Amino acid sequence: MIQILIILTLFCLSSAKTTYNVQSFGAKSDGKSDCTKAFLSAWGAACAAMSPATIYVPQGRYLLGNAYFSGKSCKNTAIMIRIDGTLVAPSNYNVIGKSGSWLRFERVTGVSIHGGTLDAQGTQLWACKKSGKACPKGATSLAFYNSNNIIINGLTSSNSQMFHVRIYGCKNAHLVNMKISADGNSPNTDGIHVQHSTGVTIMNSHIGTGDDCVSIGPGASNLWIENLACGPGHGVSIGSLAWDLQEAGVQNITVKTATFRGTQNGVRVKTWARPSNGFVRNVLFQHVIMSNVKNPIIIDQNYCPNHKNCPNQASGVKISDITYQDICGTSATQVAVKFDCSKTRPCTGITLDRVNLTYKDKPATASCANAGGKAAGIVKPSSCL
Ligand SMILES: *[C@@H]1O[C@H](CO)[C@@H](O)[C@H](O)[C@H]1NC(C)=O
Ligand SMILES: *[C@@H]1O[C@H](CO)[C@@H](O)[C@H](O)[C@H]1NC(C)=O
Repeated sequence: MIQILIILTLFCLSSAKTTYNVQSFGAKSDGKSDCTKAFLSAWGAACAAMSPATIYVPQGRYLLGNAYFSGKSCKNTAIMIRIDGTLVAPSNYNVIGKSGSWLRFERVTGVSIHGGTLDAQGTQLWACKKSGKACPKGATSLAFYNSNNIIINGLTSSNSQMFHVRIYGCKNAHLVNMKISADGNSPNTDGIHVQHSTGVTIMNSHIGTGDDCVSIGPGASNLWIENLACGPGHGVSIGSLAWDLQEAGVQNITVKTATFRGTQNGVRVKTWARPSNGFVRNVLFQHVIMSNVKNPIIIDQNYCPNHKNCPNQASGVKISDITYQDICGTSATQVAVKFDCSKTRPCTGITLDRVNLTYKDKPATASCANAGGKAAGIVKPSSCL
């Protein structure tokens, strides 16, 4: 009899999905009481469970300071965080702004976040930065470091102090139905930043912000972006690269079915004019619509703002095998296609295949420096490769 009971108990424990409601750990949905400890206690309980666990955040506003969700002593590899409410940062930007991230997951496996809104209340920090006063750098709203098998589905993130989402050192992360928004003039509020990570997908997402919608840093590979609406913002950017002499390369990047509205750039590759052993290879930009975009197609290897940190140098980053296929719409400036490559390591294998970009009533133009490749199909403005 006792044996049967034990077996039944074990069976229930292993098959039932336990739910940890943050409110039962003391979280209050009034937007005023600090819920950091309650969220971390819920995380601790889910981590200690041996079976799949759900951390549930009911409707309401939850004030959170810096929260560090560590996987170090986490036994659980199936933790779902279901959020019906809004997580809000303290109104004093110094509280989270001095550390790199607001909500930080590190060395976790199998964490998924479903729904939820993040409100980092970044507007006052942006104002401080723009005024030229001394202010903290600001925190990334949601960061995953050195983690595997991550899902973020249906998250809304607004008014981040810095980057909205950062994926760093991760393997297999799926970001879907993301809604990211910040003012078009907010500094460094990149939507999603991916670096030193492989197997990341970003699907069905809408990003409007003051910096890159998606920025791709050193060591990103096998990245797939599909169904992206970007604007306002600085577009999808590979780079800035070549800051470091020793730098991991970027490879196998796909951006498929994207719309850019009123953005500074469409699809960009950007490297500092500095020596580096980095590279960018095997990139496909496909089925892209540009609407009033300043630099729809751009490779800029001579990035050196204010001629600081790189005068008279050339970029060491080798760019090869970049394909632009079925790209159409309108440019907000005359130069719709610009390949400004490194004079010491020219770009090779650039392909323009069915490109049709127009500039108001005037013909758009293309400009090439140290760029080699080929054009296929109708390409307007005509290729300078
Ligand atoms: C390129 O990345 C995609 C995912 O984005 C992956 O399915 C594919 O296998 C990768 N190709 C190579 C050659 O690694
Ligand atoms: C290029 O786009 C313009 C404006 O949308 C359009 O009028 C024109 O027919 C297109 N040309 C080709 C060859 O598709």
